[in-house]
Amino acid sequence: RFYRAESMHDLLSFMDKGQAASDENRWTFECAWEAANKVGGIYTVIRSKAYVSTEEMGDNYCLLGPYKEHCARQEVEETEFPPNGPLAIAVNAMRSKGYKLHCGTWLVDGNPQIILFDIGSAAWQLDGYKQQLWETCSLGIPHLDIEANDAVILGFMVAEFITEFRKVAENYSDTPPRVVTHFHEWQAGMGLIILRVRHIDVATVFTTHATLLGRYLCAGNTDFYNNLDKFAVDEEAGKRQIYHRYCMERAAAHMTHIFTTVSDITGYEAEHLLKRKADIITPNGLNVKKFSALHEFQNLHALAKDKIHEFVRGHFYGHFNFDLDKTLYLFTAGRYEFGNKGADIFIEALARLNHYLKSSGSDVTVVAFLIFPAKTNNFNVESLRGHAVTKALRDTISDIQQKVGKRMYDICLRGHLPEPSDLLHKDETVRLKRCLYALQRDGLPPVTTHNVVDDWSDPVLNAVRRCQMFNTVNDNVKVIFHPEFLTSTNPLFGLDYEEFVRGCHLGVFPSYYEPWGYTPAECTVMGIPSITTNLSGFGCFMQEHIADPMSYGIYVVDRRYISLEGSVQQLAQYMFDFTKMSRRQRIIQRNRTERLSDLMDWRNLGIYYRQARAQALKIVYPDYVDHMDQELGKRFNYPRPISEPPSPSHSRATTPAASVHGSDDEDEVDEEKELAELRIKDN
Ligand code: UDP
Ligand code: G6P
Ligand code: GLC
Repeated sequence: RFYRAESMHDLLSFMDKGQAASDENRWTFECAWEAANKVGGIYTVIRSKAYVSTEEMGDNYCLLGPYKEHCARQEVEETEFPPNGPLAIAVNAMRSKGYKLHCGTWLVDGNPQIILFDIGSAAWQLDGYKQQLWETCSLGIPHLDIEANDAVILGFMVAEFITEFRKVAENYSDTPPRVVTHFHEWQAGMGLIILRVRHIDVATVFTTHATLLGRYLCAGNTDFYNNLDKFAVDEEAGKRQIYHRYCMERAAAHMTHIFTTVSDITGYEAEHLLKRKADIITPNGLNVKKFSALHEFQNLHALAKDKIHEFVRGHFYGHFNFDLDKTLYLFTAGRYEFGNKGADIFIEALARLNHYLKSSGSDVTVVAFLIFPAKTNNFNVESLRGHAVTKALRDTISDIQQKVGKRMYDICLRGHLPEPSDLLHKDETVRLKRCLYALQRDGLPPVTTHNVVDDWSDPVLNAVRRCQMFNTVNDNVKVIFHPEFLTSTNPLFGLDYEEFVRGCHLGVFPSYYEPWGYTPAECTVMGIPSITTNLSGFGCFMQEHIADPMSYGIYVVDRRYISLEGSVQQLAQYMFDFTKMSRRQRIIQRNRTERLSDLMDWRNLGIYYRQARAQALKIVYPDYVDHMDQELGKRFNYPRPISEPPSPSHSRATTPAASVHGSDDEDEVDEEKELAELRIKDN
């Protein structure tokens, strides 16, 4: 199942980058709507995998996608491919037909080659394309579905390009070309359909990262997993006006040589909704970077947390009655699919957590962030004002501090001890008073940082209202809805998403529909514990590979076998237990979480993509020999940790904050010993 792959990686590193592929005239094209086009998790798949893909395939690897100017201009360096090479010749052939193609390298780890197709340059052919689709596949695409129309145009352009390339590659080397074209999700699947309809001699792989129908059905409060085998798929798709999209997806899944999904649970879903069982499960990985110092990620947590503290000071000005040293940052983030991403049960469970903390007299404050992009009219005045007044106070204090210091220095130089009245002048006291006055506010700290366009129908805001989570001084749990993805230019946080995650204590992703779920996986490699569910691909994968995920900081909420109320209770309890952990226990837990990184690394998980490509090649070219098809090492094994569990109920007395660092060292020794023992077992 899952292999420790020093083997594959080491094997590859013996060779020149892509040498084997080049010798065999073997090529891989990977096509996705989200190639150099940030939307959601598929972008993360393609981007993070680029490093291992280019390690294996070198310049025989190329990504294909739509040209989305905003993202491409930032992330792609446009350059032409080496002239007379097969890529350049095929690109020029396309250009001579009037298509616009942008070529270059994507500026991410691995620097993969990329071709972005300008949809507009082929739009005039849309009617003709649709006619062909109707005649060959009986597939009708309605005029008004712009997304589907774009998918059709991209598909035809990609298929024509691959056809050109295939012709060129034939004459390029004595060895016959072996081309694998890998398509992701329904929006790219059209290219695959056209290649197969036209019988182009290439191997095809299709990966679904979700099924359209699954996503729609779950969003509509259906008891999805108990009825998977009962849905009348055509009818359900028709009712939701996605029948044509569903047909595109299903056709791609059936016409491909090898069909893969990102998790077992989506494999099961595809079997029932797309009526084809996945040939291979291709779990999602990340491009894991190890720090030279083992605990560097802990330092990064502390640094990023300081920046979040600064935001919180600004946001809660005037009502800032809690201790930041006893404040925990929880967050959830993703595309705004309220129910599918579990934001509904998160807010409900936060309300209960608030009650538990209050009634137990806890001195812990929880600030819960919800980051989902929604339609907004920019930041709201209250949020900006908070940051302005705290900044003014900070600047005033720093100015006065310098002046007081200078005065103190002068007085001491004259041989006297300064009197308090010598230090702070009246005008400075007035300046401070002015700042304090500005820090008073009438209303409560806002729940959202932006002006949300559909405020009264916004699902997060409505749930917050229903649960009455209004950030009063009496609430232990505060809620902040940030309806925009985070970037480093964000004026409130000044943090990008990765840094923000590092600064938080716990990621909460109680999804109902989540084929994989990158957000908790990203937490894991940064050493931040997270809550996931047994309906997410990631959660199931962790349960399969780790004896006791909770002791490694992976909390799996049951959303499959218990009632909704049961899931809410479990989630609230996990969060409540988390608030009871001491700092020392949190540090130990983060160490453990980070240790799971290898499990998420593409250097290990990339093997499944390689297998999918090799199997597709074998179907098309039965004589194809996969030279790296061999036993690739051992299974990963994460047994129950030997030292004390981080759960408060089983641990020794908590350590007071002041001595935290002293006792950390002790614990790191324990942890190191434990780690060493694990390694011995593994080997
Ligand atoms: N993400 C981001 N900025 C944010 C919040 C999320 O870039 O402020 C990214 C996150 O890093 C992750 C992706 O969005 O890679 C979401 O992927 P996931 O697989 O969790 O869900 P999807 O959106 O594909 O359903
Ligand atoms: C990291 C840092 C420590 C810091 C701790 C805070 O481990 O290396 O210096 O004390 O984070 O942890 P907390 O869970 O309270 O944010
Ligand atoms: C989809 C799924 C998400 C998954 C991502 C990458 O967008 O919703 O769960 O992580 O694809 O495979």
